[in-house]
This record gives sequence, C-alpha cells and structure tokens, in this order.
Amino acid sequence: MANSIKVRVPGTTANCGPGFDAVGIACTIYNDLELTLCDQNGISLKVKGEGAGYIPADESNVVVRAVKMVLNKTGHQAKGLQLNMVNHIPLARGLGSSAAAIVGGLVAANELTGRHFSKEELLEMATAIEGHPDNVAPAILGGITVSIMECGKVKYLRFLPPVDFLMVAVIPEFNLSTRAARKVLPQTVPFPDAVFNVSRTALLIGALCTGELKLLLPALEDKLHQPYREPLIPGMTQVLAAARQAGALGSALSGAGPCLLAFANENADEIGKAMVQAFNVNKVKAKYQILQIDRQGAIILS
Ligand code: HSE
Repeated sequence: MANSIKVRVPGTTANCGPGFDAVGIACTIYNDLELTLCDQNGISLKVKGEGAGYIPADESNVVVRAVKMVLNKTGHQAKGLQLNMVNHIPLARGLGSSAAAIVGGLVAANELTGRHFSKEELLEMATAIEGHPDNVAPAILGGITVSIMECGKVKYLRFLPPVDFLMVAVIPEFNLSTRAARKVLPQTVPFPDAVFNVSRTALLIGALCTGELKLLLPALEDKLHQPYREPLIPGMTQVLAAARQAGALGSALSGAGPCLLAFANENADEIGKAMVQAFNVNKVKAKYQILQIDRQGAIILS
C-alpha cells in the first residue's frame, strides 16, 4: 500500500444569507495536502501560502486530528506523519479553511489506509470535528449542499444549479474566528425573525435549483446571524450594499465572516472593486477574488 498521497480540497462559502449552519457552496479556490505516513515518531509540517508560519505541527492542527481519527478507527499503526500543504484558502476569513483542512486529512488518510469509509461516513467524521456540516459537506461533495443533523447523523441534499453564476469573494485583511463570530449570536430569536429566515431559505434553495437568479436579492436576506455579526466587521452593511448597487444579484456574509460574498452573472470585476472601495472607506484593506462553483469536491491528485 502506498504511504504517500496528495489531495485537493475546495474552499466553501456557508450560510449564503439565511441558511445558517445548513447551506454551503464549494468554490474554485483550493488547498492541496500531501500526507505521508511514516515509521518514525513525530509530525513534520511544511506550509506554503496561506497559514505559512502560523499553522501548528501538533494535535491542535485539525489536519492532524482528522488523520488520526481515520488511523484510530482503522487501527493503522503509523507512528509519524509528514504534511506538505499548499494553501490558497485564506485562514479564518469565512471561506472554509478549517473544513478544507479537516476534509483533506480525512480523505488522504482514508485513501492511504484502504478506503474503509464512504463519502457519507467521511462527512459524519468531518462534522464531528467541525461541529456543523455546512462547510464540510460541499468540501467533500462539491456543488451546493443543504445539510441537517438528525439524531447525530448528517442528512444532505447536493445539487448543481441549471445556470452558471459567479461569486465575488471580498476578503478583508483581518481575520475572525468562527468561535468569536458564534459567541455574539443570541440563544433565542423572535418568532417573526425565524419565519423571515424560513421563507428566505426556502426561496434561496428554490432559486438556486431552478436558476431564477433574480430572486437571490430577497432570498439572501437574513435575520438570524448577520445583524449580530455586523459590529464585528467594519463597513459590512456598506460593502454588501455597494455590491448590490454595482449590479450584484445579491450579497451576504460568507460563513461566519469576515469575507463578504456577492453573486453575479456579469460585472464581477466592477462589483469586486466597489466592495473593496466600500471596505477602504471604513479603513479596512481588502482584496477580491472571482470564484465559480466547484463541482467535484475533494479529489485525489496522485
Ligand atoms: N455556519 C457557520 C457559522 C459557518 O456561521 O457560524 C462557519 O463555519
């Protein structure tokens, strides 16, 4: 059996406005992970790109936790790990870097230990590490996913929209941990706010399934998490508004933020520039990247 494998995992944008902890889209931005199982003890880590110099080479690294989860479940005897990462997904910005790390570790270790686990089982394991399925599901499966937890199990729907669209991801220079962005959320919400989100989420999934993209504008509205997170992201309201004024189909916080996302079928550059400018007005440096839907999810490279 080979002892080395390379995998590629897409970044993801979760929530998509109202679909908190449920909706996710795989995006054309990737991390590559080469995993080698060794006989010598210890963890060796090389990182190029995002996270170089920051990612720890110990058990607090989620790739390591994911690899060890597979090794423990399969009873594999590897003593040490070598991890070589080439990362393009920015860390702690709301583009699914931790989901990509977890999925990369699980998929690579599963491949090296005899492919004991199905994609569904890997999704269960990834969700157990991440805590919610909305990023890990599209990272494994590609496309657009809706996932729920039922009695500790993940149930999901995965689909591709019938029409193409672009996603303009505007990435501010500062990062924001998901933990911090979840701390500001309330324990309960007013009933009308719950109704508001149920109706928008239904409309969002309907719009994405049918290609009725003009419905994205109202369908991306949210009252469950974005209003509470807005104070953590200087200029958020103005940046989202700038996207819509520049012709976006709709705009929302990407995952837990701080990245902001606009959906577009034209003018993507103009939308990106307008959003960066609105961040700059609020004294935040930012850049934009134009993404499409990744259709494959995690893949084995070699
Ligand atoms: N659904 C999660 C949140 C996504 O908004 O907190 C972050 O990983």
